[in-house]
Amino acid sequence: TETRYIMAFESSADETSVAIIKNGDEIVSLETATQIKSHQRFGGIVPEVASRHHIEQVTILADAALEDAQLTYSDLTAIGVTQGPGLVGALLIGVTAAKTIAWAHQLPLVPVLHLAGHISAANFVAPIQYPALALMVSGGHTELVLMREEYDYVVIGDTRDDAAGESYDKVGRTMGLKYPAGKTLDNMAHRGKPNYKLPRALIDDGAYDFSFSGLKSAVINLMHNADQRGETVNHDDLAVSFQEAVVDVLVSKTSQALDHYQVKSFIVAGGVAANRGLRDALTEMMAQRSNIAFIPVPIKLAGDNAAMIGAAVDIAYRHGKRGDWTLNANPALEF
Ligand code: KG4
Ligand code: ZN
Repeated sequence: TETRYIMAFESSADETSVAIIKNGDEIVSLETATQIKSHQRFGGIVPEVASRHHIEQVTILADAALEDAQLTYSDLTAIGVTQGPGLVGALLIGVTAAKTIAWAHQLPLVPVLHLAGHISAANFVAPIQYPALALMVSGGHTELVLMREEYDYVVIGDTRDDAAGESYDKVGRTMGLKYPAGKTLDNMAHRGKPNYKLPRALIDDGAYDFSFSGLKSAVINLMHNADQRGETVNHDDLAVSFQEAVVDVLVSKTSQALDHYQVKSFIVAGGVAANRGLRDALTEMMAQRSNIAFIPVPIKLAGDNAAMIGAAVDIAYRHGKRGDWTLNANPALEF
């Protein structure tokens, strides 16, 4: 069989990233430019700033990805890109770059969903056995996704308000931490004691949807009330109390879904999949389920990157997905 080389573009938020992936599961090159520093002073991503950085970086990174791989465009099988969801202006840079390169080099163009990309990072760890379940936890999404077979995605649970990562970022902002606050809070949690009592929304409702805005508000109110009374809050203790509430809900819902659906693999993916508290709790929960392969995506590939997009593009390419020259970014794209 022929070797496939996919060049993939990711530009949905604050990382510009280009990768070349061999046969869907090998990273030949991966070039990423992060813009976090440019957004930090605003406390979150500024869409216009993001778009400008993507434009500056995208062709530089594409050239670097080819050079690092020691390949030319004639070696490539297809060009793939994140079509959505994300910031429309940011997505447009990746989509336009991918379309232009695909057109100029007469290569197939393959659009994919950003979330399918996150889940496909599991392919770099082990081949996914189907049916599979994925817990997709990022700054914009918190979903349980059932894959009865390859390239078949069914959302069985979703957040009704904030995403898990978003709640980390908002709690962190209230504590005066830099954006994005997930990793910092994760580190603080490992120094603290879970002394604060916080809500676990929807934990026993028998369904798979999530809600994190009540928890976020509870943390913010707790800090505000302490401030009014002139009391001090131990931020490390609050961080671990908050983290345990998030992790309890994520693990409980996942465990209920695994009880209900007979799957062969379970994947945890997305930026929040880098969380040590979550990884430890899921590892413990999965220890009792030795018949299911547990595949946490590598910590380095949990956050946004083009390697995961390349893995998803390889799957979509094999299933015949193609974009034409009218392909447009779709900020609200869903499974
Ligand atoms: O997947 P991602 O890079 O971008 C989106 O598609 O949203 O996820 C970014 C999110 C941010 O909210 C960030 O705070 C969170 O992932 N995050 C973490 C950790 N590392 C990143 N949250 C909790 N613990 C972490 N260690
Ligand atoms: Zn993402």
